[in-house]
Amino acid sequence: SKRKAMPNIQKVVQGIFEQAIVKAFPDVSISAIVHSSTQERFGDYQCNNAMILSKVLKENGKSLSPRSVAEQIIQHLPANDVLEKTEIAGPGFINITIKKHFILSLLSDIIMYGVRPPVMNRKMRVLVDFSSPNVAKEMHVGHLRSTIIGDSISRLLEFVGHDVVRISHLGDWGTQFGMLIAHLRDTFPKYLNQSPPIADLQAFYKAAKVRFDEDAVFKKRAYEAVVKLQARESDYFKAWEMICDVSKNEFEKIYQRLGVKVVNRGESFYQDMMIDVVKDLDTRGLLELDEGRKILKVPNIKVPLTIVKSDGGFTYDTSDMAAMRQRVMDEKADWLIYITDGGQGLHFEIIFSASEAVGYVNRKHVRVVHVPFGVVLGEDKKKFKTRSTDTVRLVDLLDEGIRRAKAKLIDKGRDKVLSKEELEVAAKAVAYGCIKYADLSRNRTGDYIFSFDKMLDDKGNTAVYLLYALTRIRSIARLANVSSSELTKVAESASIEFDHPKEWKLAKLILRFPEILEKILDDLLLHPLCDFMYELSCTFTEFYDTCYCIEKDRKTGEILKINMNRLILCEATAMIMEKSFHLLGIDGVDKM
Ligand code: ARG
Repeated sequence: SKRKAMPNIQKVVQGIFEQAIVKAFPDVSISAIVHSSTQERFGDYQCNNAMILSKVLKENGKSLSPRSVAEQIIQHLPANDVLEKTEIAGPGFINITIKKHFILSLLSDIIMYGVRPPVMNRKMRVLVDFSSPNVAKEMHVGHLRSTIIGDSISRLLEFVGHDVVRISHLGDWGTQFGMLIAHLRDTFPKYLNQSPPIADLQAFYKAAKVRFDEDAVFKKRAYEAVVKLQARESDYFKAWEMICDVSKNEFEKIYQRLGVKVVNRGESFYQDMMIDVVKDLDTRGLLELDEGRKILKVPNIKVPLTIVKSDGGFTYDTSDMAAMRQRVMDEKADWLIYITDGGQGLHFEIIFSASEAVGYVNRKHVRVVHVPFGVVLGEDKKKFKTRSTDTVRLVDLLDEGIRRAKAKLIDKGRDKVLSKEELEVAAKAVAYGCIKYADLSRNRTGDYIFSFDKMLDDKGNTAVYLLYALTRIRSIARLANVSSSELTKVAESASIEFDHPKEWKLAKLILRFPEILEKILDDLLLHPLCDFMYELSCTFTEFYDTCYCIEKDRKTGEILKINMNRLILCEATAMIMEKSFHLLGIDGVDKM
């Protein structure tokens, strides 16, 4: 059927070996260890159980050499359509070769039904908390990382078929709004009817802060404004809304450019719920007084949460406790993912434990994870900033990316081949693609050095290289002038055949796609997908350099012969690369 999932071959093989081990050694419980082989001569996969099993058996008083254990396992393999051959190597490794027929049929499936997701064990409602910039402050490179990683994780979860809720937990509530409101009322009294012309909200914030620090009368009015805001006095509430809108519009521009969808649901959304949380914890006697603050102590964690400040206000902690409760109770999420820099690791550890302790979440039923990432550094390995300003405005950063990508394309003489419009489209796709790919292709937990030169390099594991690779693969089919329906016919007739080892190598690599995705769903580390894309394009090049897909007459250039089997490999490679780009949030380009 069309909805049939793409099997994870590694898991399938592991399942077969699992059965064999249980049958051969019913008294020991040990799960099968199956990996893809590191070298072609070791077959496609390897089972490495024999050594450990032999040891365990010895402890149980039964002596059997690892090689004999391997023999036993092989003898007990159930009948299947997957394994071609098993061989014992070295001390007792089992080298496994997959049936050609199995590979060919899975490859045909890709051509016939498209790239489908791997098996989903249970459909979950997943809430992804990402991007989450702060109102009246610039969205910075840290938020950019969160945006890029969060979008990609959401895309993957959506592809698999989960029910995904994308939330940006904006910093849009708190005492700092008092001074912003007071400042707005002074500088732009018409705000009730007209949206304020704040071009630079950060400058506006700074100006308000200066007055707050220097002018006691203003400070008092700022405090009063907070109280009035919390009481929802309409003029004050409107001022707050106006300020938030200015920020949200700025954020939206970034999302639009990057093709990211996310719903703004900031701390303010939880106003009433925060009041309920405080009431709930207070009546249950869980809050302690500490120098005027109300704190919540968490078992085994030294730092308490501040639930109510001494001035009566709520905190970031309070909003996260309320959000946890709302996400579990109302959203009915069974998987919560929070994407922020690693510096907030402790914050989330406390929030998760506290929520569990007070009964807002049960982590046996709800998977709750913090997905941390490292800080963005400049090429000097210091905190990232541009030459001119202190912090980097994201719009400027994206503009610079486009400028540089365009310069690079012109450098390569592409302006002579592409129309003005095509060049513009290509520059954007390259710039955004590179910024995203550079981020996603590294282990997110490490710090990340932002370098336009590196990310725009057309050699190595970069988006430019891969985008070129994809357009090249696509152009093969164009040259051959074979339609996808013709390819589908070949696939349907089950007549695909290969005779060259490079063909088999590429086919087998293509089919590892579900294995890569399943691993990402487990640890939410995205860089293996990028590594896979790079390996795929290198393997494709190896194949393409030795295996002619189209034979042309040397003199006339006339097409003499088209190898349909090989075109199918081109098509499947392109399809997998396109899907991978899509999962990374990167737009492909037809021409570049
Ligand atoms: N606004 C916060 C910041 O800029 C990030 C919020 C992350 N999400 C959350 N539920 N705490 O650091």
